[in-house]
Amino acid sequence: MTDTLRIGNITIPKTAALAPMAGVADRAYRLMCRKYGAAMTVSEMVSAKGIVYSDRKTAELCTITEPERPMGIQLFGSEPEFMEKAVDIVLEYCPDFIDINMGCPVPKVVGTGAGSALMKDIDLASAVTASVVKAAGDVPVTVKMRSGWSADSIIAPEFAKAMEDAGAAAVAVHSRTRDQFYSGYADYSVIAAVKQAVKIPVIGSGDVTDLNSCLKMYGETGCDLAMIGRGSYGNPFVFQEIAAHFAGEDYTPPTVEEKMEVMLEHIRLILSLSAKPEEFAMHEARKHAAWYMNGYYGSAKFRGRCYQLETYAQAQALAEEFTSLQRSRGTLC
Ligand SMILES: Cc1cc2nc3c(=O)[nH]c(=O)nc-3n(C[C@H](O)[C@H](O)[C@H](O)COP(=O)(O)O)c2cc1C
Repeated sequence: MTDTLRIGNITIPKTAALAPMAGVADRAYRLMCRKYGAAMTVSEMVSAKGIVYSDRKTAELCTITEPERPMGIQLFGSEPEFMEKAVDIVLEYCPDFIDINMGCPVPKVVGTGAGSALMKDIDLASAVTASVVKAAGDVPVTVKMRSGWSADSIIAPEFAKAMEDAGAAAVAVHSRTRDQFYSGYADYSVIAAVKQAVKIPVIGSGDVTDLNSCLKMYGETGCDLAMIGRGSYGNPFVFQEIAAHFAGEDYTPPTVEEKMEVMLEHIRLILSLSAKPEEFAMHEARKHAAWYMNGYYGSAKFRGRCYQLETYAQAQALAEEFTSLQRSRGTLC
């Protein structure tokens, strides 16, 4: 039987969760990852000030469909009063938890004092968390952070403890510094130190791409849940592989045909969920199509062609051509 963990009163299998990824992990992506066994999902980050001042994108970003659950809505902001107002708005969408982004490294976000900039001001970060916890009532609040701002300020353990004291029900740690952005490797010793520092569940994020790296994350950090971001690009199967392992079940990787079928299913989902005409919705599907073709003979050329797709029929034809090529080379999976 797969172990579980609890965040507030929600129970989550201890397999692997889908990481929040702005511009990538939208509803179609979350649905695909949940279908293949992601333990939970998180929305793309939502600006607290943005939704307080304008409700233009709120429904698109915050609506949760049943199959995406358990799902959290992630807020970013640095002003406790705006965060509180934003919580009132997002609670209408009934999230299973509310996550606060204290890890985003991009200048547009840190320039406003939000995201990983909060790691430079532990008192303000605590006030933000306390205000969200107060406004969220029974809904658990989690905080996603990095190791620290820079190599000379690895403060995640004390920072996580402060968030626990402010009422957080769990913390997620992407163990790179803000200065690293996405370069280098995640330092799992930082997640292990956070695990020692707090009693609440710790979610480990960074460089988990398959079963082996997931087991490494659990083994080296003792974290309560592993989280997968980029390793799920064109690869929702990674969640199936990990869930099968913990359930003691056999796992067979998908064949090329199966991968292409899933790619087309993902594209159909993007098209059906988009309000845009096919040609424009296909723009959103292009990068996903390219990711599903990664790692095969001739991938680079096919990926280039994915970025020219304008219709679903073209995607179908490209998938057929790709499958034939792999078959002619004797590629099995
Ligand atoms: C394209 C992209 C968008 C991301 N957007 C968010 C976000 O909105 N909120 C957040 O907390 N982290 C975000 N992240 C960070 C991921 O959640 C994750 O912590 C990080 O990518 C490390 O995990 P990985 O090595 O499994 O990708 C993003 C990462 C990527 C690559």
